[in-house]
Amino acid sequence: MSTGAHRISCLKPTAVNAILAEVRELQAQGRTLVSLMRGEPDFSTPPHIVEAAVRALHQGRTRYPDNRGEITLREAVASKLHRENNLTYDPATEILITDGATLGIHAALNALINEGNAVLLPDPVYDAYQSPIRMAGGTISTVCSRLENGRFHLDPAALEAAWTPQAKVLILNTPWNPVGTVFTAAELKAIEDFVDRRNLILISDEIYERITYEGHQHISPQLKARTILVNSFSKTYAMTGWRLGYCAGPKDIIQNMFMVLAQSSRGPATFIQDAGTAALTGPQTCVDEMRTEYTSRRAQVIEHFPKIVLPPEGGFFAMLDVRNLGQSNEIRKKLLYESGVVVIHGQAYGEGGEGTLRVSFASGGETLHTGLNLLQKGLAAL
Ligand SMILES: Cc1ncc(COP(=O)(O)O)c(C=O)c1O
Repeated sequence: MSTGAHRISCLKPTAVNAILAEVRELQAQGRTLVSLMRGEPDFSTPPHIVEAAVRALHQGRTRYPDNRGEITLREAVASKLHRENNLTYDPATEILITDGATLGIHAALNALINEGNAVLLPDPVYDAYQSPIRMAGGTISTVCSRLENGRFHLDPAALEAAWTPQAKVLILNTPWNPVGTVFTAAELKAIEDFVDRRNLILISDEIYERITYEGHQHISPQLKARTILVNSFSKTYAMTGWRLGYCAGPKDIIQNMFMVLAQSSRGPATFIQDAGTAALTGPQTCVDEMRTEYTSRRAQVIEHFPKIVLPPEGGFFAMLDVRNLGQSNEIRKKLLYESGVVVIHGQAYGEGGEGTLRVSFASGGETLHTGLNLLQKGLAAL
């Protein structure tokens, strides 16, 4: 008799985790590899944020947190959303602090999805959305994207084509991982009109909002009554390991998400939340400095692959167009086994990503320098 619950059978490891297993096996055999795979900033968390956590620990901020999130942090999130995203939320009822964006997305899906409901998902997209959708009992309705002039687009016609009467939610990620598109105001308006017309809820994952290039600006959807905004400290403040994020949305949905969270983590540690407050209310120069560094890393990638790069408008991934070299997973494997460089095949993010490779420049310095050279040589050899 299998001991596993049925619902586990629909869960899949993310591409990063699956490839990490291959990488570890090769490393155990003594291979040296350079990874341009993960979406993990190589910066240290800014000192004033670390100090806030240490201070909080010394002050005994080690008890259970408020399960919705500490009110000081919820207020800091509300001020941030007002100041930067032109959105007004009540910190008492419309904001929820979560363990990273991951748990925010999980709570949102579980609060919204009934058995058989469909979630519209752009393709290609961050591949950790699928499993929580299935675990919540939902099905996935793929929204095909269009690659034109080096940019992935999401057309209203494609949204309509993916819609079925079972559709309940659209997940949008802007800046869009893995393809780097930052939706313009006009594109967002068209998406919001679709969401409104089709009576959907929009889960807006804005985790890369502060990492944009060449004048592209992140814009949050303004359809407040139908939107759950999901964000986190992971990328903006190089806090991936702190597991801290937040959601904002209509009071009734946030209440239901709170009920979901109350069955699992009951919120990030109190002193971690104090660090989050320091991040949002403290100086933002660290964010600007990191963005400047990502900008020069992005330029490095473009310089190495001027003919095949799709220059990202935001985020810290660049897609390489390798359609004339064959199947993306085959190319990835050759690069891994023969050239010792780790990237992710675009097809891991959906069929729309086939023919591309995702290259991360979340790590810079020697890693990026060596990795790009290996990648260049490896691709030339194919
Ligand atoms: C689009 C997107 N959403 C969510 C996450 C997860 O974020 P967190 O670390 O806050 O859980 C990631 C991490 O790579 C991501 O790329």
